[in-house]
Amino acid sequence: MATQSTPQRVEHQLTDKGYVPVYTTAVVEQPWASYSSQDHAVWAQLFERQQQVLVGRASDEFLAAQRAMHMSPDRIPKFDDLNRVLRAHTGWELVGVEGLLPELTFFDHLANRRFPVTWWIRRADQIDYLSEPDLFHDLFGHVPLLMNPVFADYMQAYGRGGVKAHGINPEALVHLTRLYWYTVEFGLIRQADGLRIYGSGIVSSKSESIHCLESNAPNRIGFDLERIMRTRYRIDTFQKTYFVIDSFEQLMQATTPDFTPIYERLARQDSIPAGEVLPDDRVFNRGTGEGWLADGDV
Ligand code: PHE
Ligand code: FE
Repeated sequence: MATQSTPQRVEHQLTDKGYVPVYTTAVVEQPWASYSSQDHAVWAQLFERQQQVLVGRASDEFLAAQRAMHMSPDRIPKFDDLNRVLRAHTGWELVGVEGLLPELTFFDHLANRRFPVTWWIRRADQIDYLSEPDLFHDLFGHVPLLMNPVFADYMQAYGRGGVKAHGINPEALVHLTRLYWYTVEFGLIRQADGLRIYGSGIVSSKSESIHCLESNAPNRIGFDLERIMRTRYRIDTFQKTYFVIDSFEQLMQATTPDFTPIYERLARQDSIPAGEVLPDDRVFNRGTGEGWLADGDV
């Protein structure tokens, strides 16, 4: 099985953008023996480059979790090996998938402490950017924090919340997805020695790891649950706004209450453009907006 070819898409899901292709929902065995030397080299290159970029940029929790996992640049990790470590630490396990899953399938995995990991890795000419999650994003970006007990519980709670929101209405799902985006994917955390990254969409990207902390262009704003759930986001460029938590405990506490009344409230409020700063925001950095595109928030 060549890993350099595009995996087959077998389903289409109706969204507000029309039919969008999604991958097969099946859990697949990681075809480890069929990774090419190219694949392992791409892993090694990305791994080593991000290790350097993340020094002083990724949160202490992320770096500690990553060390405890013992992933190495030498070769693409085997899910089975990582699973032995993960199960012992927090009871999570990885399952191989072709790529993006329908929402309910994804939530069901998380609710059962299973994290779906895309088994294929990007090509060498896609080192800097890929528009969909691959093995590097999923393994390097998402999996380490599943070793952190508080974050591990947050991910499961999110999955359960997703199953619930799915049963309410599509708007509830839109609001919940924004929370995932601005925490799990693009979250920043405030440490005693400054802002750090914990979001996996950032830690798996060299340019955004630097941009999110060092550029004056984006807003960096304190975490506020309902504010985040109203805020649109970017899927094709750097984020215009990053939200900063004080701790994973804060994230857990803020998201523990029943969201049902929140969804009802949010249904009556307008969404907020990705780059807007509100009077009540706790602003760490008011972005200059340099390089922002006027349209394209989703
Ligand atoms: N408390 C949320 C609800 O009732 C569930 C949730 C937990 C959502 C953690 C996100 C993160 O829907
Ligand atoms: Fe992701």
